[in-house]
Amino acid sequence: MCGIVGYVGKADVTEVLIGGLKRLEYRGYDSAGVALIDDDRIVVNKVSGKVAGLKARVREEWGDGRYAKATTGIAHTRWATHGTPTEVNAHPHLDHTGEVALVHNGIIENYRSLRARLEGNGHHFESDTDTEVLAHLVGECDKGDLFQAVCDALHQVEGTFGVAVISSREPGRIIAARRGSPIVIGVGDGETIVASDAAAIMAHTQRVVYLDDNDIAIVTADAVELRDLNNVPVTREIAELRYDEAAAEKGGYEHFMLKEIHEQPEALANAIRGRLDFDLGSSVLSGMGTSPRELGELARVVLVGCGTSLHAGLVGEYAFEDLADIHAEVEQAAEFRYRNPIMGSRDLMVAISQSGETADTLAAVREGIQKGAFVMSLVNVVGSTISRETGRGVYLHAGPEISVASTKAFTCQVAVLLMMALKLGRGRRFSRVQGRELAREIERIPELVEMVVAQSDRIAEIAKEYSKGEHAYFIGRGPMYPVALEGALKLKEISYVHAEGFHAAELKHGPIALLEQDTPVIAIACDVPGKDKTLGNIEECKARGARILGLVSERDHETAECMDDYIMIPRCHQLVATIPAVVALQLFAYHVARLRGCEIDQPRNLAKSVTVE
Ligand code: AGP
Repeated sequence: MCGIVGYVGKADVTEVLIGGLKRLEYRGYDSAGVALIDDDRIVVNKVSGKVAGLKARVREEWGDGRYAKATTGIAHTRWATHGTPTEVNAHPHLDHTGEVALVHNGIIENYRSLRARLEGNGHHFESDTDTEVLAHLVGECDKGDLFQAVCDALHQVEGTFGVAVISSREPGRIIAARRGSPIVIGVGDGETIVASDAAAIMAHTQRVVYLDDNDIAIVTADAVELRDLNNVPVTREIAELRYDEAAAEKGGYEHFMLKEIHEQPEALANAIRGRLDFDLGSSVLSGMGTSPRELGELARVVLVGCGTSLHAGLVGEYAFEDLADIHAEVEQAAEFRYRNPIMGSRDLMVAISQSGETADTLAAVREGIQKGAFVMSLVNVVGSTISRETGRGVYLHAGPEISVASTKAFTCQVAVLLMMALKLGRGRRFSRVQGRELAREIERIPELVEMVVAQSDRIAEIAKEYSKGEHAYFIGRGPMYPVALEGALKLKEISYVHAEGFHAAELKHGPIALLEQDTPVIAIACDVPGKDKTLGNIEECKARGARILGLVSERDHETAECMDDYIMIPRCHQLVATIPAVVALQLFAYHVARLRGCEIDQPRNLAKSVTVE
């Protein structure tokens, strides 16, 4: 989810590159850098922090027109996935000769083994990133032809990439390639721009070429030559850019929230990629830094978080107890920190946080460490305070989440918690066969979510029947109970409807007094244990005049007929089903809020990261 810009042409290269980065910075970047070819060498400038900091640094150090003659350069704004957002980890990265510079978008899964082999060949690395490994790999493959060197290097890579590479031995040329991470090339008049997002190109030209996976381009100021990674020429048509800049920032979506809901198949694929071991029927979460023996000695898992992250922990509680046969409990972080919790070395504390900066969750981490627990984090922002203070854990790889209402972070949190529970379970009573079955179900998650996202227009139609009320109640059982809570929070925080989530059985103990004619009840009636009891609760609500929107399992037409409206959820393992189910509720909340004319991305009174107690 980083920003890449490359330029070959007659304009002020530095100006073009930094201007392009500014247009890509909307997604919240944590470090930035630029590399130019100056005569027979490469010069680099990098900062941690925003593009504005890079612009100031470049003006200060290069502002005397020192590199005005440069014709070729690349630049990058980073969303950290490997290595904290420091200056040394910022891109561009150089190879061992300092003559090749590279910027990269994506995740290289086999970077550790590549790094070990390169170190064995005498390479030394400055950063913690997978990208620097790729730069050194290109350098090692470089026998005087940069194009061939990039091809040979990328053939050794497992994972995703969008790259732009330059060499001081080949001024006036950029090599660009993609697999799983977008690269678009702007074809100008005597100039060419490479970028990860057309927003960086629009100021220079409307004529663009979109690379497909495994395309590689040889870019000069006057030409773009396309081949595949096997050096076979390919043809891609030149398209005309048609969009306004504001829309471009949101990838063409009306709101960041809708973009991030639709991004979930890709985000979940990134969260899961390389983390399932089908041979052992387990998961590979090396960031946990634990041996099977250490995990086997744990007596309890304590999941702490706030808001949506707390709800993810509630799903995790079911997963750890069901899959790992271990006692699990969830704590609201603020409450945990002020209690005098009983905790010790046989407790695993998992701090769940998208931002990694939530004050109450951070305080709970410090309390857990103080009590001698085994503390790790599950966060999205690499290098965030919580990830640094726990020193171990699992990054979500969900990409930047801009909308205040959390969507893709939640589903990635649940996916990673399932993989954590699988890992613990395989160290206990969960068999290899059971593990493989669950791993296959987890691997399906992106496809399952795609099936729900595809129903967005239908959900928008349904939302019209629910957009005028001021109250709504969400009910669910089992692992769908936290999904009901999360669905209520989504609706509450972006549409300002008073929405409440309940365990389905809880209604009879008071809340049902609130039901009147046409009061909306959103009932999660997927095929999970207790469904028949939930159907009974639904009848109790209908008897009081409530209007029922049901989430039902696909092809369950009998249950669907009991509802006033319904959304079909793909059939899968009951714990996995929480993810497509919540995506349906995210879309429901979004469309209701949109119909009510709400702000959506920045709801009143809220902040994306609550760094105060
Ligand atoms: C989620 O939609 C809310 N924005 C909020 O509840 C959020 O989940 C909570 O503040 C925790 O944030 P964190 O995940 O960054 O720690």
